[in-house]
Amino acid sequence: MKVLVVGSGGREHALCWALAASPLLAKLWCAPGNPGIAEVAECVPIGALDIPALVAFARAQGVDLVVVGPEAPLTAGLADACAEACIRCFGPRAAAARLEGSKAFFKEVALAAGAPTAAHAVFEEAEAARAHIRARGAPIVVKADGLAAGKGVVVAMSEAEALEAVTAMLEGGLHGAAGRRVVIEEYLAGEEISFFALCDGTTAIPLGAAQDHKRAFDGDRGPNTGGMGAYSPPPAWTPALEAQVMESCIRPVLAEMARRGAPFTGVLFAGLMLTEAGPRLLEFNVRFGDPECQALMLRLRSDLLPALVAATQGELAMFDLRWERLASILVVMAAEGYPEAPRTGSEIKGLEAAAQVPDVTIFHAGTARREDGALVAAGGRVLGIGAVGATLAEARAAAYAAVDRIDWPGGFCRRDIGWRALNTMRRLPKGQ
Ligand code: AMP
Ligand code: GLY
Repeated sequence: MKVLVVGSGGREHALCWALAASPLLAKLWCAPGNPGIAEVAECVPIGALDIPALVAFARAQGVDLVVVGPEAPLTAGLADACAEACIRCFGPRAAAARLEGSKAFFKEVALAAGAPTAAHAVFEEAEAARAHIRARGAPIVVKADGLAAGKGVVVAMSEAEALEAVTAMLEGGLHGAAGRRVVIEEYLAGEEISFFALCDGTTAIPLGAAQDHKRAFDGDRGPNTGGMGAYSPPPAWTPALEAQVMESCIRPVLAEMARRGAPFTGVLFAGLMLTEAGPRLLEFNVRFGDPECQALMLRLRSDLLPALVAATQGELAMFDLRWERLASILVVMAAEGYPEAPRTGSEIKGLEAAAQVPDVTIFHAGTARREDGALVAAGGRVLGIGAVGATLAEARAAAYAAVDRIDWPGGFCRRDIGWRALNTMRRLPKGQ
């Protein structure tokens, strides 16, 4: 099969890495890709949002499958454009991608499906929103309705902070159109888990769970980021919990989307809070998480390609994925200044030596080649250092041994990826 992966981050590198291992693969392209991806695929200089150019390329090359990494092309209709051109696409159409594109829509669907989620209300009027916050008190959560590059959520520990967020979004134009409507919801306390299910419109099968680290600095301090590291599986994630989430969240939402004429095909990424009262859905994303995808791909034993094809053909009911009985970890190395103002252009050395650490795989995210061939930082999140091990502690030791071989004064990473799991449990439960 000829496959085109769309995107340029660590997630797309991990997808390309997994697809490149498939005996069914004849040719792999990535648009636009990055220097790490270029080692396993041919990169084509087409932006992930240039839908006409992507479709024209796929058609001209006879691409059999387009695999979409990020959410933006999906909410913009890349899967729809592929369908019109009779090109198989892994990823939901725009009508189904709204599950991520609009938090109010997500809430409406979750409620109709009976999936457990935080109590909420939707506002367009600032005064009504402020009155609601005063009546409920803090802690309380304020979310911009639309896509706001991961910055649209304010978990307010005080009423003043919540009021300020509402005013900034509804009256101050913060986040533009995405913030013209806000969702205000109940604060949920607990362990946060990213759970992934592969969906073909009617059937969903579990893809596994991971835990992300959203804050920039050790000890979960500092600003929110796209994710500074992940590990899989989280010890709190038991087979019973997975079955419960499939039954209470994933399958009913899939059925509700089909009932609405917007069947969901692709990866459904459930952001879950494991509260004392059970798992609660925080949000859905319509794609793999980054860096969770890297951690999952490191554990996947089955061939990824036929699984993605089965999802696009409504054939998942007969599918079964195998996972290595290993723990995996992914440590993100970011450019100094990330997330506010990453300083790009600094040179990165020592990757070859780092990649030689046993059980380590390195994924590129925001890298570029300088004219002289040197590898330089070209984004916020720059590298992902992945490793596997019999235990999470072993995987973590390998990943940090590789980090220590990387000579990049312009970058930083968290030193405590996996701390929640390692502090609560020395070994992973059997059978995971
Ligand atoms: P979201 O984009 O909805 O996942 O929100 C971003 C982050 O805000 C989540 O990963 C959680 O850490 C936090 N968050 C979102 N909703 C809630 C909630 N209802 N209670 C507590 N924390 C939340
Ligand atoms: N790591 C979280 C996300 O991809 O949204």
